Amino acid sequence: MSKTLKVLFLAAEAAPFVKIGGLADVAGALPRALRALSEEDAGGVNLDVRLALPLHMVIRTESATLRPVTSFTLPRAKSDMSVQVFETRSEDLPVYFVAGEPITTSGSVYSSNAALDGEKYTFFSVAALEMTKHLEWQPDIIHVNDWHTALAAYALQLKHWNGEMRETKSLLTVHNLPFLGPDLRGRLVSYGLTLAQTDLPEWARAMPLPLGLWSAGKTVAVSPTYANEMLTPSFGSGMENFLTIHQDSLMGIINGIDAESFDPATDEAISTNFTAETLKERAWNKAALQKLMGLDIDSSIPLFGFVSRMDTQKGVDLAIDTLAKLKDTPWQAVILGTGDPALEKRAKNLEKKMPDRVKVEIRYDGRLARKIYAGSDIFLMPSRYEPCGLSQMIAMRYGCIPIVRSTGGLKDTVKHAETGFLFEKETIAAFRKAINEALGIYANNEYWQSLQRNAMAQDFSWKNSAKKYAALYQSLLLP
Ligand code: GLC
Repeated sequence: MSKTLKVLFLAAEAAPFVKIGGLADVAGALPRALRALSEEDAGGVNLDVRLALPLHMVIRTESATLRPVTSFTLPRAKSDMSVQVFETRSEDLPVYFVAGEPITTSGSVYSSNAALDGEKYTFFSVAALEMTKHLEWQPDIIHVNDWHTALAAYALQLKHWNGEMRETKSLLTVHNLPFLGPDLRGRLVSYGLTLAQTDLPEWARAMPLPLGLWSAGKTVAVSPTYANEMLTPSFGSGMENFLTIHQDSLMGIINGIDAESFDPATDEAISTNFTAETLKERAWNKAALQKLMGLDIDSSIPLFGFVSRMDTQKGVDLAIDTLAKLKDTPWQAVILGTGDPALEKRAKNLEKKMPDRVKVEIRYDGRLARKIYAGSDIFLMPSRYEPCGLSQMIAMRYGCIPIVRSTGGLKDTVKHAETGFLFEKETIAAFRKAINEALGIYANNEYWQSLQRNAMAQDFSWKNSAKKYAALYQSLLLP
């Protein structure tokens, strides 16, 4: 019998249960990809990875198949909290849902109220760790993600000091460093989490993500370039010195995409399926998208796609301002996304200014997103910073050539003039130059198709990343 390595994966969101951002894609896919590794690919062990999520209100109302597994009381100053744990399976992945008053009180997954979120995720992190004592399943590794669950690593460290759960190690994946979480001075103590003497900067000593960085056995950034960028003042969010001192426990592992679900050969959301060998068929998707959006149906006009959360991180403003300046050549653009109302409005204004060229849809729409990946020629992604980025990989898989800013995971996944285009400076001029270079090549059909074939041939499947995480788990458990 081979050895089983047990991993409890904690996240605020995971597809298909609840999805706000890229974290949900990762938390939905990586645990499954790890479970799917052969014993050989997992380094000679059998990986039993399980996922735990807060039982958010949206999940509560949608899922009827939750089975209660355990309940217990969590000591808290003033009033103890009762915790209920439910279980379900998502294909073969066991998923635990943790419920309790702080999760019910904050109706949404993330609220704009830092105190509500602070309470909710402190409760979740501590309760999820405590839950393992009540299951007949003791994890070897607690794998936490971003600030929301980082405190589980910290709580584990405090337990070690008390002589408990000594054999259990922790790993923190950072998907978005600037979200350090709220200052929880006061609140932590009420959950029995004393403030440890740490070498964190004074202002960060009661913040979830910094405490996670301090306590986790290893920290993983979602791309190698982002792991390096995190060490610099521009990207380090004030944590750069701390991270530099602890560089040895930091590494980058690029995310994958669900290559089965995002497959132009089988995707049923798009009008015509195609592969790199039947690239000609792709044109039907462009025509269908132009028709759907009310644009002129013309295969020769370059069509830009933009699918994103409307967030300054994503350079939405830069995309809009650059398109507004691009008047001298024909082009069309489809923009899809929701988020910051000011950015949504700017996008809508561009549509008003250029109604024949620009169509904007303000919503989250997975099916339309797929039609855009399959139908547009060029994918715009001028992110200011991008820890990994998933859309550029999905776009490439659909033969949609990305133009990206050279940062984080974008830099690690796109090869200039081979699978896409990169630009350095966060300026309209630099972005425009890259767009013009792309349009120059677009005019040469054969050359363009060779880019599309290169892009479609990239292997962005989860297996590669999962193997790296598996190796990391093993290294954490070495005596
Ligand atoms: C965050 C990052 C994004 C990354 C995703 C998944 O949303 O902003 O770059 O792809 O997490 O790790």
